[in-house]
Amino acid sequence: MARAFAKVILFGEHAVVHGRHAIAAALDRGATAEARVVEGVSRLAMQPWGRVTLADEDDDVARAFSSVLEAVGGAAPVDVAVDVVVPGGAGLGCSAAIAVAIARAVADARGISLTDDGAAACANAWERVFHGNPSGVDVAVAAHGGVIKFQRGGEARPVVPGGVMELAVVYTGEPSSTKTMVESVARQLARRPQVVERTFDGIDTLALKGARAIEAGRWYEVGQLMDLNHALLSSLLVSTEKLEEVCRLAREAGAMGAKLTGGGGGGCAIALAPGKTEAVLAAWRAAGYEGFAAHIGSPIR
Ligand code: PMV
Repeated sequence: MARAFAKVILFGEHAVVHGRHAIAAALDRGATAEARVVEGVSRLAMQPWGRVTLADEDDDVARAFSSVLEAVGGAAPVDVAVDVVVPGGAGLGCSAAIAVAIARAVADARGISLTDDGAAACANAWERVFHGNPSGVDVAVAAHGGVIKFQRGGEARPVVPGGVMELAVVYTGEPSSTKTMVESVARQLARRPQVVERTFDGIDTLALKGARAIEAGRWYEVGQLMDLNHALLSSLLVSTEKLEEVCRLAREAGAMGAKLTGGGGGGCAIALAPGKTEAVLAAWRAAGYEGFAAHIGSPIR
């Protein structure tokens, strides 16, 4: 059984597309896949959607599947079954977890050995079909697990939290398109290069400081850096009223910091709330938002 993790981005989304650092953390949920060599055309079945795709069909899932099959190497047709336990379209790296699990399962079935970075590279072929210009952070954390520091084109480096990081994750209920938001930020960069480059540099500094604060377990500082990162993301116009509301509710309920996570324009937000996770989740629930606790740095099942 091949596995891969869903994720939250703690710092650095969007800036990471343009060469800056991001810090991402694996969640204790994600995707699993099994593959076996068969005769004929390769086939992909995905649960919970009950969707079956043949590699030679004319659609994006088939194209993404074929790109992963090719990137893994070997030619044997395979039958792949994927099981996903993450909400899709919410910026939690569902697509990357699926892609990494597929790459690993196909490599196992074909008798090819893949490192974590190798699995991530194969999975990025899938991400390119859906996201246009992926930085690679989603597939890197899906493959490595734990907390990583990532820069485009480089290898992921582990960040070891200096204690359990008590996060709460909330879904705004607004579907988000990473591709659309990445394109929107690229347009702003073309229009106002100096301002937007400076914003990216600011986010880069927050991400690097954030990694050091996480390693030292300085949660108050991590929370403040998250708030600042959220403000810079808002200035890139990737926040929404609902994302602002869930971040505000979290801070009022005692979170040390909160920010949107992932592409924005909807999707999810995270709050750092040591000892207050339940209070934050309750505040969100009272306002009609569904969330869950994610304790980063505790063993991943
Ligand atoms: O896939 P999402 O929505 O979690 O966002 C990924 C993070 C971005 O920086 C917005 C895009 C990327 O490729 O890094």
